[in-house]
Amino acid sequence: MDKYVINGGKKLYGTVSISGAKNAAVAIIPAVVLCDEPCVIENLPKIRDVSVILEILKTMGAKVTRIGGDDARVKIDPRGIKSSKVTCEKLVGDMRASYYLLGALLGRFGSASVPASGGCSFCDRPIDLHIKAFKALGAKCDLLPDKVVLSSEALVGNDIDFDVVSVGATMNAMLAAVRAPGKTVITGAAKEPHVVDLANFLNKMGAKVRGAGTDVIKIKGVSELTGCTYGIIPDQIEAGTYMAAVAAAGGDVTITGVIPKHLESITNKLRDTGTTVEEFDEAVRIVREGELTCCNVKTTPHPGFPTDMQPQFVALLSGANGKSRVTESVWEARFSYIPQLRKMGADIIENGSTAHVDGVNDLHGAKVRALDLRAGAAMVVAGLAAKGTTEIADIKYIERGYEQIVEKLTAIGADIRRVTYVESSEDD
Ligand code: EPZ
Repeated sequence: MDKYVINGGKKLYGTVSISGAKNAAVAIIPAVVLCDEPCVIENLPKIRDVSVILEILKTMGAKVTRIGGDDARVKIDPRGIKSSKVTCEKLVGDMRASYYLLGALLGRFGSASVPASGGCSFCDRPIDLHIKAFKALGAKCDLLPDKVVLSSEALVGNDIDFDVVSVGATMNAMLAAVRAPGKTVITGAAKEPHVVDLANFLNKMGAKVRGAGTDVIKIKGVSELTGCTYGIIPDQIEAGTYMAAVAAAGGDVTITGVIPKHLESITNKLRDTGTTVEEFDEAVRIVREGELTCCNVKTTPHPGFPTDMQPQFVALLSGANGKSRVTESVWEARFSYIPQLRKMGADIIENGSTAHVDGVNDLHGAKVRALDLRAGAAMVVAGLAAKGTTEIADIKYIERGYEQIVEKLTAIGADIRRVTYVESSEDD
């Protein structure tokens, strides 16, 4: 097993470049199933979730070829996929976003059978809204204990209204609807950058999707989609995590290859902490010299403050002067990592959906665990800021979403190593 060992308390200086967005890639790759020709996807992040979804497509019959020996540029030929039944339970169960195969296969074949998806389980993650969308388009849905089975005579465009904003349900509805004859109108749609990226990819293949990035997405069904080359947007959350890391540890780092507009809610909150954020066309510069100030944060769907940055911000605010309140309004219970931060000296009390963070100036290294992807990122942020040595176990969760995090942090002066170890009961 491997863990990260961080000798913290070192300021960070230099430049770090951001990879393609995980949550766009994991939807765009299954979307290729809808196409009648091969597609080339560029700027893919080199992370475990992307390898797994590509592997799933291969087991289904797609041909996946790296272009120029680069994992970031891949040609996917979906023409070998002849069945809408996915059988690789273990791979599908290894990630949450495998649920996009439901929408993509339903849109392509009018049916789908997909094993239960897995992934980060920081709380209950229902798919009732996905099912509501499929049913609105004319599908019959059977939720079995180990798989979801969808069937239809023929899908037809329809109105789909979401009363809860869901990224996954919005994207699955788009996947299922792009080839359904007639007009689909999705109201209460999620507006995240990856929703817009999926719409742009679908449109590049010839789909007619309008309004992505607003509450209302209108889709006119088309009968075929043609191959294209498409580059994935930069990862908003990877960028935000490095922004938080620099603010927590102090220093002066330019983060390149980003879309500053996507980072606005994070930028605004960092400024509240006294961190300087300079914006350029495709970069942001983070400078933190003085002490950090407390601030209040509430997660909301885009363009609000992203839930996927909440744990990293709690880690950051653990070392800020004063009392901060962090309220989670997207997921019911996303604070399971807080006891790990307490091991490092953080003073945090949970009260329902709010974490009350009383900043301390002596965060110290400890042996902790990455309980899920963003919880793990929070341990890295805290470990960089804390004095002494932090050991983070279960880094497989971190590596499902962060490309070369050790290398990227080392390049900006962090003392972080990936170390192989044998787990003992003392590690708990
Ligand atoms: C996506 O999950 C992301 N995952 C999550 O990021 C992210 O936290 C989340 O969106 C919110 O931004 C991927 O894109 C692969 P939702 P998703 O449906 O789509 C409720 C990460 O760390 N809901 O937008 O599964 C749900 O309970 C991951 O990268 C229903 O009630 O999330 C939640 O309260 C973790 N019924 C809210 O909607 C449903 O059918 C938002 O969830 C679906 C969701």
